[in-house]
Formats: sequence, structure tokens, C-alpha cells
Amino acid sequence: MAHLMTRPIPLILDVDTGIDDSLAILLACASSEADLRAVTCVSGNVEAAQVVMNTLAVLELVGRGDVEVAVGRTVPLVRPLMTAPETHGLRGLGYAELPPARAMVSSRHAVDLLIDEARRAPGELLLVTLGPLTNLAVATLREPDLPRLLRGLVMMAGAYRSPGNTAPTSEWNVAVDPEAMQVVLAGWAAHPGVPRPVALGLDVTERAKMTPDHLAALHHRAGDPSDAPMLTFIEDALRFYMEFHSRYDGFYGAFIHDALAVAAALDPSLIRTESVAVEVELGGTHTTGQTVTDWRRVWGREPNLEVAVQADVEMFFERFIERVGGLAATRSNVAL
Ligand code: BDR
Ligand code: CA
Repeated sequence: MAHLMTRPIPLILDVDTGIDDSLAILLACASSEADLRAVTCVSGNVEAAQVVMNTLAVLELVGRGDVEVAVGRTVPLVRPLMTAPETHGLRGLGYAELPPARAMVSSRHAVDLLIDEARRAPGELLLVTLGPLTNLAVATLREPDLPRLLRGLVMMAGAYRSPGNTAPTSEWNVAVDPEAMQVVLAGWAAHPGVPRPVALGLDVTERAKMTPDHLAALHHRAGDPSDAPMLTFIEDALRFYMEFHSRYDGFYGAFIHDALAVAAALDPSLIRTESVAVEVELGGTHTTGQTVTDWRRVWGREPNLEVAVQADVEMFFERFIERVGGLAATRSNVAL
């Protein structure tokens, strides 16, 4: 049977690389449905300048030094920056050490890049955000038509029916810059005809628990090489992340939130979403950054977000291992 050739989806990732961001980048590079056009960087897990270094180094590890990487906002819209060295390590990639990349950061600011690329190819670009929403909020304020210019927006952001991971009710990416998330929601809501943003919150991303067994399967899929820089990177980064989860979450493994978000952006059949009205708590005593969700529709308002409520994590891991392991096999013994 002849295969229908579909054009890969032009994709931009907005990241705060970060261990799980790095796995998400690897997955995007290993996915034939994606045409990774650029990666924009924002402060979050580490400061933006370090995010850029990490992102360039990860791309170079897989031979994608050609992808444009741009630096964006270095601080949240109105609050002081929080970073997460205990979760991701001082430099953001756990115990992994990568050689500094040869490629340079783009001369374009991340916000300009997002706006320019969206205007250049209206309706084509899929944007996936894996960090605080600061860059996207500024882009939306500067170009209020951005929601109409994009093909879609998928965010790893929020905790909807789940407890938070930064405060009892708030998730990291929203907690770092709650105003930015609110600006993004309002920006999209101003365009009722445009598809609502899709959010993968902790409700589903904490089901994507990577374990040492998954790591072994990844190694095996790569052909059990004795020398594969990509596998060494993944193992060193994840060892730190797994130790963190064993201290705070009671299991030796790691939630790979951002990789699930990329997988679901490329194949929406991996998740089931519900349309709901969501507001971000900006002035709470204990709840700032909470994504307050009107599950019972007591507000009687139009939904402004598609929230993921289910995810096929078995299929996700199968795909992650197949693709990322396959890419690692092609990168074995490649001189860096
Ligand atoms: C999110 O926070 C970050 O630490 C991770 O990279 C992910 O994007 C999960 O709450
Ligand atoms: Ca992230």
C-alpha cells in the first residue's frame, strides 16, 4: 500500500533546558513529523544564557547545529526569577558534561524570531512551550495576531486536577511567571475562531515516569554500543533527575514532562483533552501560580484552554525509545 507522504510540521520549541527539555529536543530531532525550525530560550530551570549553551550543545550532539537558537527574556514579566538547581543541577543538565557548541546563538531576539517566523508563514508553525511563558507573553503583547498566525500552541504548563510541584497547587512553568501564562490565555481568548491552546499539566506529565528499565531499553534499541555520546549524555543527565525524584517523589525514576508535551504536539491522539475555563491565580496568599480550573462550569464562561486529562504513556515511551534510541544508534562513535 502506498504511504501518503505528509509534509513535516514546521516546529518551534520554546525551552528552559533543563533535563526533560533536553529529552524533548532529542525527541523532536528524532521525529520525522517535525521540521524543527528554531529553538527559543527563556530563563526558568537555569538562566537564559545557560539555557542557550545547553540547547546549542544538545543540538550539536545530534548533528543539528544548523537549528537557529535564540535567547529571549532573562527575567519574568514582573517577578524576580526563580531557578531550579536542585532539580536540574547547577548548569541545568544534571551530571552531563557536553562540549561547548561550535554554533553561535542567533542575532535575533527570541521574541522577534517568534513574531517574524509566524508572520513569514501564517498558519504553518506549531509552537511548543516547555518553560515559563515569558517569551510567548511578550510576543503576544507585541503581535496580538500571533494566535491567528500560528498553526497551534501546545504548552507544558499547569496543574489542573493535580497537586503542584513548586507550591502545593502550582506547577513550575506557571509558578515562575504566572502573569505570562495569564497574558497568553487572554491573548488566545481574544481570537474566538482560533484553536484553543493545548496544555499538558502535571495531571498527565507525571504519568510519564521514566525508569531505569526504560533507559535499558533505550540502550538496547541503540544497539548496546560501547561508545555513544548521546546515550552517555542521557544517562548522566537522567541519573541526577532520578536522584532528585527519589528524594522528593518517592521513586527512582523521573517525570519527563517536556518530552511528553512534544510527543503529544506531534501526535494529538496520544492525549485526550477537555475544554475548560482557566484563570491563573496572581494574588494568592498560598496559591499564586495556581491554574484555577472551572471543571463544573460554575463561571458559565467560554472555555479558553484544552487541558490534557489522559495520556497514552505506554505508547509514548514505546515511541520515545524507538526514536531516540534509533537516533542514538546513528550517532554512535561520532567524533564531537
Ligand atoms: C516543568 O518544570 C521544569 O522543571 C521542567 O523542565 C518542566 O518543563 C515541569 O513542572
Ligand atoms: Ca522545561
